[in-house]
Amino acid sequence: MVENGETNTPAHVAMIMDGNGRWAEKQGKARKFGHQEGMEAVRRVTIRASERGIKVLTLYAFSTENWKRPPQEVHFLMQLPIRFFDRFVPELQEKNVRVNMIGFEEKVPSSTRKAIQKAMDQTKDNDGMILNFAFNYGSRAEIVRATQSLCERALNGEINISEINEEMIEQHLMTESITPFQDVDLLIRSSGEQRLSNFLLWQNAYSEFYFSDLLWPDFDGDILDEALSCYTNRQRRYGAV
Ligand code: FPP
Repeated sequence: MVENGETNTPAHVAMIMDGNGRWAEKQGKARKFGHQEGMEAVRRVTIRASERGIKVLTLYAFSTENWKRPPQEVHFLMQLPIRFFDRFVPELQEKNVRVNMIGFEEKVPSSTRKAIQKAMDQTKDNDGMILNFAFNYGSRAEIVRATQSLCERALNGEINISEINEEMIEQHLMTESITPFQDVDLLIRSSGEQRLSNFLLWQNAYSEFYFSDLLWPDFDGDILDEALSCYTNRQRRYGAV
């Protein structure tokens, strides 16, 4: 784990943005309105997180399990990165935020992939917070892929099986791209649900959890601040006394 300087600010905050559908249903609207509004919450939280000195903000925007949703909802969710970056890249630039993505790109439509890649290219020189979208991401599949790569390297004689250690596994996870902040310090989930949902299982090994009853579209910088101040009072012992 890497501490965030002298302050007790978490270096890596990860968020499960839950409750868009319920938010929309509560207003008698279609689920997509919840996702649309959820995008505004992403903007608010990103700005506040970058102002608070967080190094990496990872957002669970689409899971490998989300393909089970109705096709029109999947289609809408696939369009969201295009809309988001179209509107917000200038603001991300202003805040010195760098965009990154983890997830299985293969199944993502090429127009969405292109929009994400363009945002990554446009912000590549920014050295402030990393806004890391987990898009078509699933942790078990990530670990399977890492295991396959390591087995392949062992079969090719590049490494010995006995050499495989935690560091080597981390180098084969998707979060290798956010080194040295792979470990999550603070995991936040909205909407009152309290589970991990196949999100960063390895990386959350020692994270602190914060659950909010607010539905994601109602989430804002002040709730993030509440979570951060709660984190400040936690004692992290990493198995020691
Ligand atoms: C979970 O709520 C939310 C998602 C699966 C999508 C997350 C997407 C956003 C927050 C929009 C921003 C995305 C980008 C890429 C900028 P849910 O639909 O499961 O809600 P429910 O549990 O109330 O049904």
